[in-house]
Amino acid sequence: MSWDTVRLEWDGDVATLTVDRPDALNALNVETLEAMGEALEEAADEGARVLVLTGAGDAFIAGADIKYMRELSAEAAQDWGELGHDVADALKAFPAPTVAAVNGYAFGGGCEMALACDLRVAAESALIGNTEIDLGIIPGWGATQRLPRLVGDETARRMIFLGERLDAASAAEAGLFGEVVPDDDLTDVVGELADRLAAQPAFAMQTAKQAINQGLEGSQESGLAYEKRAFASLFGTHDQREGMAAFVEDRDPEFE
Ligand code: HXC
Repeated sequence: MSWDTVRLEWDGDVATLTVDRPDALNALNVETLEAMGEALEEAADEGARVLVLTGAGDAFIAGADIKYMRELSAEAAQDWGELGHDVADALKAFPAPTVAAVNGYAFGGGCEMALACDLRVAAESALIGNTEIDLGIIPGWGATQRLPRLVGDETARRMIFLGERLDAASAAEAGLFGEVVPDDDLTDVVGELADRLAAQPAFAMQTAKQAINQGLEGSQESGLAYEKRAFASLFGTHDQREGMAAFVEDRDPEFE
């Protein structure tokens, strides 16, 4: 399938989803969000072991498309909010790890798409923030919930109330980025990380992701209950037998 403002490319089992609307700094409009949703579905159906999200050109995603949003009624804004939430939820529930390669501006809805990924690696020139307050609105695609869970309540409130635009180093210090690398190294570093993730036992990886999501998006109690069930369900799988046999036999495991 092909789309005008989104690209889905494969390197082995690693799928890269690129938002490709560079003239608008990859701002997200209806067409782009719908295409992202379809591309995520396709990547999952094709069995991606890792999904990388990035932006074409110098921006990651400069936010939701303000030119589209400005005339929306409250009713239309409800549908618009839902559409972005659906894409963020699809990233969160993607059946393999997702990595945001934040190559430039990640404001508003762009920050929110990065927050919906499992891991975030940034180029050192990237800027990130939930800047919606400057437009008289609030984050609408998940940041009021996901940002405090990632960076803590105080920092999230400061960022959202003040619309702070953090440079990559400050964002990493706040816990928003796991790694900051020179701009020219971003693709290689993310590629190496993706390869490492893709080599892990896929079912255990997916199960770990779901258990973490369950607790962070629900209650700790439900997360712990999920972990108990999910942990036990891995016993008897090929990868569990192989991983433990490899340890005992002092060799590298060969996962499915
Ligand atoms: C629509 C955008 C855009 C956006 C940039 N552009 N961001 N169009 N929506 N979010 C367009 C510009 O209008 C311009 O188009 C082109 O991209 C280049 O942008 P410039 O502003 O000329 O570039 P520069 O001077 O380098 O400044 C870059 C920037 C600035 C700092 C990123 O563009 C900016 O502040 N953008 C808005 C960022 C933002 O507020 N994002 C949050 C949106 S709210 P033309 O046609 O003039 O060349 C949001 C809500 C999410 O995301 C939740 C919704 C439910």
